[in-house]
Formats: sequence, structure tokens, C-alpha cells
Amino acid sequence: MATDRDAHSFTKYGWMVCLWVLTVSFQYGYHTSALNQLQAVLTCKHADEISLPYFGLPTCIPMSDATFSVVTSMFTVGGLFGSVFANVAMDRWGRKGATRASAALTAVGAALTGLAASISPLILGRFLVGVGAGLGICIGPIYLSEIAPSKIKGNLGVLTQMAIVIGIMVTQVMGFRFATPREWRLVLFISSALSTFQFFISPCVTESPSYLQRRGLVEEQKAVIRRIWNSERIGDSERHDGEEPLLSERDEVPAEHQASVTVPQLLSARELRRPLLTIIFAMLSQQLSGINAVLYYSNDILSKSLPEFAAYVSLAITIVNFFMTFPPIFLIERVGRKQLLLLSVGGALLSHLAVGYGLDTGFVTLSSIAITTFVMSFAIGLGPVPFVIIPEVAPIHAVSAISSVGLSLNWIVNFVVGLIFLPLRNFLASGDPMKEGRVFYVFAAVLLSSTFVLSRLYRG
Ligand code: GLC
Repeated sequence: MATDRDAHSFTKYGWMVCLWVLTVSFQYGYHTSALNQLQAVLTCKHADEISLPYFGLPTCIPMSDATFSVVTSMFTVGGLFGSVFANVAMDRWGRKGATRASAALTAVGAALTGLAASISPLILGRFLVGVGAGLGICIGPIYLSEIAPSKIKGNLGVLTQMAIVIGIMVTQVMGFRFATPREWRLVLFISSALSTFQFFISPCVTESPSYLQRRGLVEEQKAVIRRIWNSERIGDSERHDGEEPLLSERDEVPAEHQASVTVPQLLSARELRRPLLTIIFAMLSQQLSGINAVLYYSNDILSKSLPEFAAYVSLAITIVNFFMTFPPIFLIERVGRKQLLLLSVGGALLSHLAVGYGLDTGFVTLSSIAITTFVMSFAIGLGPVPFVIIPEVAPIHAVSAISSVGLSLNWIVNFVVGLIFLPLRNFLASGDPMKEGRVFYVFAAVLLSSTFVLSRLYRG
């Protein structure tokens, strides 16, 4: 039988389980950008613009920009809610059960949004999709790491970020094709169909071996490992099944730690302070880098410089983000998590300064190039590494609680940065378009401070 020490890879079935788990991260990215792409066709100002009933549904839903913002932000509210309860869900229902719950919520929420004829079901649907995404983004990195053979844990961890970026990219591309009054609902139905499929095939998927071990289900755990890992041992004949520990040292749980800690216990446990703060500052650095401000407002930031290409700018940025998420898959084990993170932060800081300088001096080409190098820098470290290190720095009895707290914070900061970016930029510029770059100096300073703390906490 393959053990964690000798298994280098997944079986085909193991890869299928991975793909199943990654669907939740994909849906997180998908819904992060879905409504942005559809705003122009989904909303209309007056009811009399509603024409051409589409399967009996209106072609648009009358609402103001402010109402649309409320609808959009319900995703974040739901996400926060999902993340807060993720630890309870994954300890009680298992990694698989909680992923199933995430799929069910996404399936129902996306269907409700797609079928909405008024604002209330839109808001409710968006909230449910958010709860599904909040649960999913907490569970995904842990589940993946627990099913991965230790030699490829890091490489595999990067796939969470890859799936998120693919989700963002897919909706952007779909926006070009389906953002029409007759077809926008399809974008939501497709997501619902995917999660429905994910939900119904769940009986074919295995629970995480570490979770089974912690529940004392050793035989089930061995059976799972036999199915998902390839045995690539030297001296096969000399070893007997079950002779070696099945899981890595991190996963071997001392008896006194069998019970998972709750969030209040986590917050008061001194020995868990360092891993908790490490994840908190990793998440803070990821979000305070300003990535989502750049993703949401890249059109606005560069519109004066590149008006004719505005619509393509955000797609181009997402494509860069996607391609640059490949290198860390291969570099993470060679270069190391901490080095990759510091390299990424260094690139992001220099890029921020260059974007700011470019905007302040009217040096258009510089700010456009620097926005791209910022996204590249983010993609190689700040994007994937925080997800990869959650299950590595957190002891297994605290991993779900630490992930819940870290990702709840991630949602909050994501929301706040999105909310304050434009007002802050305008405030700092005091009405002078030549000073709109100043906000990037603020991002640089904040990112530098948060990474400084992180680098003291995280040993790598
Ligand atoms: C990370 C962040 C997410 C962001 C994405 C962009 O996944 O958590 O907020 O949108 O990177 O690539």
C-alpha cells in the first residue's frame, strides 16, 4: 500500500477527487466577477424597458446603481457568513460533507439568481451563492492538502488559486458572448448546473484521509489512501501493508488534541497565537495589496490612458493573472513559500510605485505596464501562498478554526478595499486627475507594513 512517505502522485481517481474539490474554488472566482460582466444587461432603469419575455422571465430587472451595489455585495455578506461557520461545518460534516453543502448552496443560489424576476430573489440567491463560496474557500485548501501525497502538497495547493483565477476568467469571456438581454441568465444557470452535478456525484468521492483518521476510522482511511495514491516504492517486497504511518507527522494527532478547537478557544490559546497571526497577516497582505481594486477598477484606472481598449483591459489583466499562476506550481517547492512571497511582495511594491508615478506624471505607458507587472507579481506569491500555508502552519486540531478566522478577515478586507478604493483615490487626489496615483503609494505602504509583520511571524 502507498504511504505518505512513498506516494508521489495521485491515481486517476485521486485527480478526479481533486477536480471535484477544486470546483468550489472555481465557483468562488466565477461569482466574484459574474455580475460585473452582466450589470449592463441585467439592470435597467425603468420597467418599460422590459420587453421580450424570455421563458416568461423579464429581460432585465429595474434597479438603481445603488441597489445593484447592494445585490453585488450580498455575495460578500454571504461569503463572510459561510467562512465564519466553515469550521463547524467541516468538523461536524467532514471535509466532504461541507463541500457538498457548499455545492448545494451554490446550485440553489445561482438558480435563484438566474430565475429572478425581481430584486428579492436576486438578493437571496446572491447571498446563498456567497455562503457557498465562503464555505468552499475555507474547506478547499484544507481538503486538497489532506488528500495530497506530501511530495506534491505545495504544488497542489497552488491549484486553489488557479481554480479561482480560471473562474474569474471564464465569466469574463462569457460576458463577451452572453451579456445580452436574452442570454445573461445562462451564465447563472451554467454555474447552478455545475454545482448540481458536483453535488450529485459526491457519493463517488472520498472523504479526506486525515479526517477519517481523526474520527478513528482507520480501515476506511487505508482504503481511501489505496484508491487515491499511486504506490511508487523502492523495495516494495520488503515492506508490509500498514507498517509505516499513513500520514505525515503533522497529521498524527496527539490524543489530547483529538477534539477540534472552536474559534473562541482558538482566540484564547497562547500556543496557537503564532499560526493564527501568520494566517491573519498572510490574508491581510493578500487583500491589502489592492489586487481586487485593480481587478474591479482597472478600466477606470486606465480609462483615460487607454480609452479605446477599456473593455479589453480587465480581460487582459485576468489572462496575465492566469498565466502567471503556473510558475508557482513548479516554483513553490524549489524556491520555498516565504521566498516566493517576498519576491511577489517586492514586485508588487515596485509596481505600485510605478503605477502611482505613471499616473501622476501622465506617463501612460508606464502605469499600464506597471499594472500588468503588479498582477504578475501578485500571481506568483501573494495569490497562492496564503492558501497553501493554511494547512501547513496550523496544527490539525486548529486548522478549521484558523482557516475560518483567516478567510472571514479576507472577505471583510476584500469588501472594504472595494468600497473605499474610489472614494480614497478621489480624496487623495483632491479633484486633480494628475494626483490619482497617490492611492497606490498608500497601497505600497500598507502592503509593506503587513508583509513586514508576516515575515517575522512566518518561518517558511
Ligand atoms: C485571490 C484572492 C481574491 C482575488 C484573487 C485574484 O484568490 O483571495 O480575492 O480576487 O486572488 O486572483
